[in-house]
Amino acid sequence: MKIYRAHDYNDMSRKAANIISAQIIIKPNCVLGLATGSTPLGIYAQLVEWYKKDDLDFSRVKTFNLDEYVGLPEDNPQSYHYFMNENLFSKVNIERNNVHVPEGTNEDIEGECLSYERAIDALGGIDMQLLGLGPNGHIGFNEPGNCFTRKTHIVDLSESTIEANKRFFEDASMVPRQAITMGIGTIMKARKILMVVDGAKKAEVLMKALTGEVTPEVPASILQLHPDFTLVADDEALKYM
Ligand code: GLP
Repeated sequence: MKIYRAHDYNDMSRKAANIISAQIIIKPNCVLGLATGSTPLGIYAQLVEWYKKDDLDFSRVKTFNLDEYVGLPEDNPQSYHYFMNENLFSKVNIERNNVHVPEGTNEDIEGECLSYERAIDALGGIDMQLLGLGPNGHIGFNEPGNCFTRKTHIVDLSESTIEANKRFFEDASMVPRQAITMGIGTIMKARKILMVVDGAKKAEVLMKALTGEVTPEVPASILQLHPDFTLVADDEALKYM
């Protein structure tokens, strides 16, 4: 495990964006796993800036997002499709058919999970997976539970996640109750994993995840076992480490 300590959110975003841009420079046709939430916003802004300066080329990059809410169409501003279009895809030269986000509106939701998993394998797997950290230790939408999930699947969101994510919606009742998420197995198969965490509110769960027992009750704890795991976090998030 490599840990890069950043002074603040901007420093964390720049350091993590540098790691992603190095991946794109080394392998221009790489497969990136991408994440949503507020933490990666600064990274995407930085990548867009470098693209505009002609320092980055996304023309051969392929991406797979971690997750999507069930039932939200692409044009719903709270959907992860919309988030990715707004913050990255519409601002760089990525090819539309190289971009993948689970279809939360597919009526055959089981089939969607299966074909998403197959599409990742068909492109040779993920080279670098970006992750945020949920306040309850979740990664993607893999909630605390009694076993590590294997593949892309449907999940019932926990009350604490609905509560944490309601800030993006009018109120908690508008937050979808289910999501499609890559499984822990899907995430762990990525050749490299890059996690970003900021702020004192995540300090305790981050310490638990990285120094505590490896348990599905703290899904991110499995990252301790990944052979190429990098964390970029700010001083506040690392205050107990
Ligand atoms: C959501 C996403 C996760 C993300 C988490 C943390 O639940 N499904 O992928 O890591 O939120 O979000 P934030 O970065 O806003 O704290």
